[in-house]
Amino acid sequence: MEQARQKRIVLGITGGIAAYKAAELARLLVKQGIEVQVAMTEAACHFITPATMQALTGRPVLVNQWDAADNGMAHIDSSRAADAIVIAPATADFIAKLAHGQADDLLSTLCLARNCALLVAPAMNKQMWGNPATQRNIEQLERDGVALLGPASGVQACGEEGMGRMLEAEQLAQDILAVFQPKLLSGVKVLLTAGPTYEAIDAVRGITNRSSGKMGYALAQAALELGAEVVLISGPTALNKPHGAQVVNVSSAAEMFEAVKQQVADAGIFIGVAAVADYRVAQASEQKIKKGDGSLTLELVPNPDILSYVAGLPKPPFCVGFAAESEQLHEHARAKRQAKRIPLLAANLAQAAIGTDDNELALFDDTGEHVLPRADKLTLARQLMLHVLKLYQPGAKQ
Ligand code: C5P
Repeated sequence: MEQARQKRIVLGITGGIAAYKAAELARLLVKQGIEVQVAMTEAACHFITPATMQALTGRPVLVNQWDAADNGMAHIDSSRAADAIVIAPATADFIAKLAHGQADDLLSTLCLARNCALLVAPAMNKQMWGNPATQRNIEQLERDGVALLGPASGVQACGEEGMGRMLEAEQLAQDILAVFQPKLLSGVKVLLTAGPTYEAIDAVRGITNRSSGKMGYALAQAALELGAEVVLISGPTALNKPHGAQVVNVSSAAEMFEAVKQQVADAGIFIGVAAVADYRVAQASEQKIKKGDGSLTLELVPNPDILSYVAGLPKPPFCVGFAAESEQLHEHARAKRQAKRIPLLAANLAQAAIGTDDNELALFDDTGEHVLPRADKLTLARQLMLHVLKLYQPGAKQ
């Protein structure tokens, strides 16, 4: 996290119970060498005191636009100096203000006067989050280029369970630091496959697997943070589209293969994360197959290996493969890298990786094995992309 040094963040706190998490967030950011200037709304001061925030950041907290001890221009000065403004927690009311460009207190004025990235971490009751007015405001913020951090789903302070919880401080700190990543993949197209495939048996049944798509989507996110142009070819998943990525939704391996062929020509990096079905049903029935008395035999034929196809192109992009093994991880991974002729292969134990939120990876390249210890998938994705950056040489035949 070298790059984060010397950066200055305005941390805006608004009046919600999640304000207590802002103290931990400030501490984590300061620990990363970031200068944190806290600005609080009057309402936020009912939940956490400016004295707490001042003690953690070593800087007086801005609250009231009228009692600024300096030249009375605290909003302009703070905005001018900031590399990013982060609002955590952001209440429904404050989000409404941002969406409409209101500036009736110090923090909202500071946001309107900014010339830097604005990151917003919503925190509210699930009904408030689901209210169409809030959803309209959120869409407006996204259109305005504001980055949304969360919210997450879970138990809420009001006792209900649902969408609207603020992300944990650790996660927020990571997302904020990512904004400061140097855009080392600017101008590079990163093409990814993610998720499972669905191979139809008949009109209503099919063969699929338990891949959630989380690792592929996390890698898409990590590539976006590095400034890449990201095209994500996704099998069926329940995940939100990574903001800024072009997503091509597909179902079967054959569709995925077609989409990859259409997109690969100008890709600099190809990452095959999808759990592509090895076989499809030779003759899928258009009608639902009726139950009979005897056994039913389905003939399966092999699917094309998308990654091997891409790696075998005359001028292939830099190719990264994944291997999920249930045993003898290292031996199988090494053999797979050779067989597919790819420069980098990330291997994980299938039991530990499929459908879970965290994972651990062993990376295999020409220099040997590199272990990425257990962490959440976005953290691993960021580390994997940094490894790719070490090996990737733009323009070179990979
Ligand atoms: O051979 P195996 O399926 O274990 O290889 C896994 C790697 O190959 C993954 O990167 C996966 O996305 C890719 N793959 C593919 N097309 C297939 C099968 C696997 O691209 N038909």
